[in-house]
Order: sequence, then C-alpha cells, then structure tokens
Amino acid sequence: MFASKPSLSNLDARYYVDPALFGRERQAIFRTHWHMLGPILQLKEPRAYLAVDVAGWKLFALRGRDGLLRRFHNVCRHRGARLLGEGAGKCQTLRCPYHHWVYAEDGALQQVPFFGEDDSFDQRDWPLQAAQLAEWRGLLFIAIDAQISLLEQLGDLPEEVEPYPLESYVAVEAKSFLMRSNWKTYTDNFVEGYHIPGIHPGFMKVIDFKNFETVARNGLVRMTSPQKSGSIYGGKWLWMWPNWTLSVFPGGMNTSRINPIGVDSTHLHYHFYFADLSAEMETSRLETIEVNCGIVREDFGICESTQLNYASGAYSPGPLSPRHEQSVAYFQGKVKAALM
Ligand code: FES
Ligand SMILES: [Fe+2]
Repeated sequence: MFASKPSLSNLDARYYVDPALFGRERQAIFRTHWHMLGPILQLKEPRAYLAVDVAGWKLFALRGRDGLLRRFHNVCRHRGARLLGEGAGKCQTLRCPYHHWVYAEDGALQQVPFFGEDDSFDQRDWPLQAAQLAEWRGLLFIAIDAQISLLEQLGDLPEEVEPYPLESYVAVEAKSFLMRSNWKTYTDNFVEGYHIPGIHPGFMKVIDFKNFETVARNGLVRMTSPQKSGSIYGGKWLWMWPNWTLSVFPGGMNTSRINPIGVDSTHLHYHFYFADLSAEMETSRLETIEVNCGIVREDFGICESTQLNYASGAYSPGPLSPRHEQSVAYFQGKVKAALM
C-alpha cells in the first residue's frame, strides 16, 4: 500500500540530521543573513562588548572610546584564538589571551610582543576581519556577509509592528536554553499553533484556539489568537526568516534567536522587555518571564524526541495541515530555495 500524496508535506528527515547539509545551511543561510542580537542598549557604554556565536562563527561588537560601534570576527589573526569570551562585558584592551597580540578598537593590529625579526611581516597587513552591524528599532543585528540590507530581510515586519512602541521597552532579562534538536525541528514547531492542544494544555485554556490564525508572508509568520480572560499574552507571535522571533504582550515583548551550534544542537537566546520598570510591577514582570519560559521549555521534549525519530531512519515525510501548517511549508520552502 502506498500513502496518498498530500499537497503539502514535511521535509525529508535527512534535512534534520545530515551534517553535510548543515554545512551547506551555514554557508547559504547563516553566513548571508542578519542575526538579531537583542537590545542595542547592552552596548551603550564605551568599551562595552558583546561576543556571540552565529552558527559556529564567532563574532563580536564593541563600542569604542570614541562612541562608535564596531564589529569583528572574534578570531586572532595570529593562530586563530578567540579574543573575547562569549557574552557581554567591558574590554579595556583587546589583547589575545594566547600570545598577547593587541588590537586597537578599530581592529588594527597594534602590538606583537616577543615576535622577533621578519622583514616581510608588516603589522598593517593583519587587522581583525570585519563583520557587519545594523540597528532597527532598538534591536542590534550582526552579519558575516549579508547579501541584502536588513530592511529587505525584515520584509513585512516593520509594518506588522508599527503600532507597538518597541523602542520604549527595556530588556530586563536574558535567558538561554540548549536543545538537542536541529534548528529546523524547533522552527517547524515554533511557526505552527497546531501543537498547542497537545503540548501546551495550560496555554490552550487561555486562548480561543478555534480562531487561532497563522499567516506566512514576505519573510515572516504571524500567529494570532483571541485571548480569554486571565491571559497574560498579547495574542500575537511573530517568527522572522531565517531564525528569530518577536512576541508582543501587554506592556512589553520578548525576542529570541534560534542559533544552531551543530546539526542536532540549538541554542535559544531570549530577551524580555518591558515598558514599566517600576518596583510595583516587578512581580508581574517576573511572572510574565516565568510563564513564557515555561511554554518554551514545554516544546523541548517533543522537539528532541522528534529529532531522534528523524535520525532513526524510520520517518518518511508526512502531510502538513492546510489549516495550521502552511507556515511550516513556507519556512521549509525558504530553506530549500536557499540550498538550491
Ligand atoms: S593566537 Fe592570538 S596571539 Fe597567538
Ligand atoms: Fe510550542
């Protein structure tokens, strides 16, 4: 017996488990797109830096003493050591921990202690390799070799969030999660609400699931749902190609970056932003963060066990729901197009 051929079907399992295919995605998707790094305010002070991983590439942004924000590969030009540890901090001198080469804040190689004589070596030939930075509505983006402008990549997002005062929201909390699944296993899951009854029973109670709507268009997936009383959600969840999300709730929002660190490992980097930072609202802010993180965690188990089934060889592509999973097909179509 052969299964009937549905009009929309899931990706072949090899897309989720093949290391060579992941290598192609790194080049065709992650190297060539902008990556959302959270609030630009985290780099407000002179000498503040943020060092990140983007699908294996190590990059950092640094606010100079002159106030300019610069961005480089976090790779020493000598023998390739990482200059700055991952995360945010303050950097007085950009000195490689390995052999103490020192770089100026504009990336120029400044000192090469104890190097010895070599007439054919010119320090000026060895600046740090530059990356790219952009800002949109208070959010910082970095790219290795972006092929289009940030605004082009954002597609319909600016219009979608135009009524929300994003710049007035302040990030009060950052949370990171590690998941043992391919980045697409998680993304497929994020862009559909079809799994809400099965995986998020608590969430199901506060939304009007019958009227849950999913729209995929021009670089984003928008999910909306009418809310029941007692909900702390804003009823609007957005995912943007290739790998970030923005969800609004009353008086704030959260953003996340879905960053693969291997074919079957993915980091999620969340920020929670609020308009009202008053002490009286602290309990409510903490509750919003906790409830949202609880929902994020509820997805891990199902993504990880699905990933194991993809890896087992027992899965052949199944049909996608025309009511709820057009968005999954949209995302997967963009992945396939990028890999062509
Ligand atoms: S690798 Fe950086 S100084 Fe040697
Ligand atoms: Fe979910």
